Order: sequence, then structure tokens, then C-alpha cells
Amino acid sequence: MAQLLTLTRAARLVGVARGALQRKIREGALASFEGMVRADDLVRTFPGTQLEENAELARVEGIKERAFGRRVYERSLPDKEVLAARLGELARELVEVTARSARLQALLHELGKRLEGHALGAWLRRELEAGMAAGEDEREILAQDGVMRVITPHVKVVPGGQEFYVEGADTILEAALHAGLAMAYGCSSGICGDCKARVVAGRVRRVRQHDFRLTEAEKLQGCALMCCCTALSDLVIEANIARDAAEIPPQSITAQVRKMDNLSEDMMLLEVLTPRASRLRFLAGQSAVVTLGGVKATWPIASCPCEERRIQFHVRRVAGERFSDYVFHDLRIGEAVALEGPVGEFMLREEASRPLVFVAWGWEGFAPVKSVIEHAMAQDVAESIELVWIAAAAADHYYPKLCRAWADAMDNFRYTPIVAARLPDLGDLSARDIYVAGDAAQVEATRAYLAGNGVPAGRLIEWVPR
Ligand code: FES
Repeated sequence: MAQLLTLTRAARLVGVARGALQRKIREGALASFEGMVRADDLVRTFPGTQLEENAELARVEGIKERAFGRRVYERSLPDKEVLAARLGELARELVEVTARSARLQALLHELGKRLEGHALGAWLRRELEAGMAAGEDEREILAQDGVMRVITPHVKVVPGGQEFYVEGADTILEAALHAGLAMAYGCSSGICGDCKARVVAGRVRRVRQHDFRLTEAEKLQGCALMCCCTALSDLVIEANIARDAAEIPPQSITAQVRKMDNLSEDMMLLEVLTPRASRLRFLAGQSAVVTLGGVKATWPIASCPCEERRIQFHVRRVAGERFSDYVFHDLRIGEAVALEGPVGEFMLREEASRPLVFVAWGWEGFAPVKSVIEHAMAQDVAESIELVWIAAAAADHYYPKLCRAWADAMDNFRYTPIVAARLPDLGDLSARDIYVAGDAAQVEATRAYLAGNGVPAGRLIEWVPR
């Protein structure tokens, strides 16, 4: 039977976005079997792929890394012990497959002999000869799949369906957090047991000692601590990964100011770093209550959860407003910042694979939209992404460099800055999911426009300041 590849792995192998594969599947150009594709079908659909060097994949990932300025796509080799264990696992699989294949060949040979002289026998011989002639590209893709399984094993989570890769010798928890997924955890050091999950398929290896004791029954069920284990092979795990706000408990954390950058004359990028053992769990698009110098305010988180301990906010200079005055005049690097939250329900619908449109209004609407866009990119869930940033003054487009970098990095990303006080014509959006962020009047105007253009209310996800 032809080897099946997950959609994300197949996309990496041929160097295209997962959305491009989803489109081919929808158009009937590529067959899919429960969310997986066959290597030979993949080669037929993308015949010109430069598999030898996978140059396109490297180029796109390099650009993404530079565009995002972070290590989402960073790769590193696992350490010697993990590498040896993963190779051992692959070798064991190879032995099993080789033994099964030899048995199957013997059976087919015997069957062919018994059908000698029958039409069925001739058909069987033809099919076998055709089946054995795997093309060079198909062999190459399967070889690269084997390498990727050693360097970056793939993890699928049930029942949620989320997917991510384990880079280097990362623990499974670290890998899930790098992917921006809100996996349940507490201490991240093997004490509390909150990250316990069941390994349904594949093998894991403990890379850190832990004090938490799994019961015998849990061990028999295949449970392991995700903060102490790495993957030895592709995995299926049963784990708790939050998909909506209600699944994330309220948290209170003290972080430290790490960076303050002027994005424009009136906009400040404020980055805080949470402690290693107590990071803020949130979903992209949510906000946090921030207390600085005794002043408290609710701000949308501008970064993606895949930034892990680094949490960013975009603060506007508003003379006479206490929080803003404190940030622009008194705040210093290293100062303590209290974070509470997360709050809000503006978040990516990961189950929808429709093209996404983000409408950001003014300076206020960009930060929550940025967080969700970066998460959508890290997850590679969307077929295409369009950002329309509407502002009354050109100066309110305060992060043009980043938006242009996104557009340069990805063929499926479009950025349209618009200077206008009112909602312009957005064209036909009936087949898209639309995320809109702005003040109440701006969001209301967008809602009315979309309703008038036949977009069902359920396709609109809204953010307004709290
Ligand atoms: S997060 Fe506490 S044991 Fe893993």
C-alpha cells in the first residue's frame, strides 16, 4: 500500500503552504484519505518540485523567520542520545515493514503461480510490475519524510485535531508552546502533573527527571508527562489543548519589562518576559489586564502564544492618560509588571479552512489582529490571508514594515492599507471568515456592510476595546 503523509508534512516536503494542498484537495486534483495524502499522488500533483534541495521550502521558512523576527521556524538537531533513539525507532519500523513486505511478496508470488494461465493472473502480474516501479521523485519524497521524522517528529492531538512538530530535542510541551498551542501545564518541570497526556500511537522518551509519580494504571494506559518527554517517532497523543477562552483558567503573573521600542512617534512596543516556570496561557487575540506603576489597564496582546514567555503590547501616547503617561515617561527596562488574564473571545477558528480576511480599524484594531494573523501563520491553517487596515490618518498605520514583510514572505498574504474615515467597498467576502477589530461604531459599520453583502453573521468574529 502506498505510504500516506500528513497534510502538514506533505506541504513541507514539496515546499508549499498547507492551504495550497487543501485547495488542490477541494478542486479534486489531489486525493485525500482521512486528512492524509499518498506520496505518489503528491509527486503527480507537484511534478516540478526540487526535492533534492527543497530550496523553496528553505527560502520560504527563512523569509518567514526574518519577517517574524522570532524562532518559530528555527530548527536544531536533537542531541546525540535523542538522535540515536529516534534512529533506533526508525530502524525498528524498517525491520517490521521489511518483514511484512517479504511475507506479502511471497504470498503474491504463490498466488501468481496458482493463477498461471488465467486472465486474473496476467492482471496481477501487470499490477505488480506497475506497483514496483516507484518513480525517483516518489522515492526521494519518502526518503525525506524519513529524515524529517528523525529531525522533527510530527504530533497529532486527539480529540482536538491540532498538529505540531517537535524540533531538535524539545519536550513535547515546549514544541506545543512553540506552535502557539495552549496545552495544559503548570510547573513545566515535572512536579505538578498538569501536563499529563496519553500516548495513543508512537513512542516517547523521557529527557528530564520528574518528581511527579504516575500511577501504575496511568503507565499502563500510556500516560506520560509532556514537559519531561520528547518524541521518538511521529505521535498521536490524547491531550488537553484549549480551543476557547472558557478552557483557560484565570492567571496572575509578575513579569518584567524586557523591551521598549518606538514603532512610530506615538506608538510604543512594550515587551514583557514572564518567568520560566509561570508563563501566561492565552489564545491569540486575547487581552490581559496590565498593572504598571500602580496603574491598571486592559490591553490586547499583540504577540502570538508561539512567542512563549515574551508578551507584547502596543501602547498609544495619549497625553493626560495615566497608563500611557507612565509608559512613555517613567517605565524602565527590568521593571515589574503584573499580568492578569487572559480575557476576551476574539480568537482564530482553527477548524475553518476558508480564506481569512482581517479588517483592522485605526491604531486600536491592529494589535489583536496581529496576534491572530501570526497564530494563523504559525499554524498554517488558512488557504489565504488578507489584511485590510483602515485608518483616518496614514500615521495610524504604525507598523507598515511588518505588514509588507508578511506580504513579501507569503504568496497567499495580501496587505491593503487604506486611509479613510469610513468603511470602503471590501468586495465580495461571501466565502471568507472575517475578523474585524475596532471601536464599537467601526465594528457595527462593518457588521452592517457585511450583512448587506450577504455574509452570514456566523462568519464575523469581532473585537472591541474593553
Ligand atoms: S507541567 Fe508540571 S509536571 Fe509537567
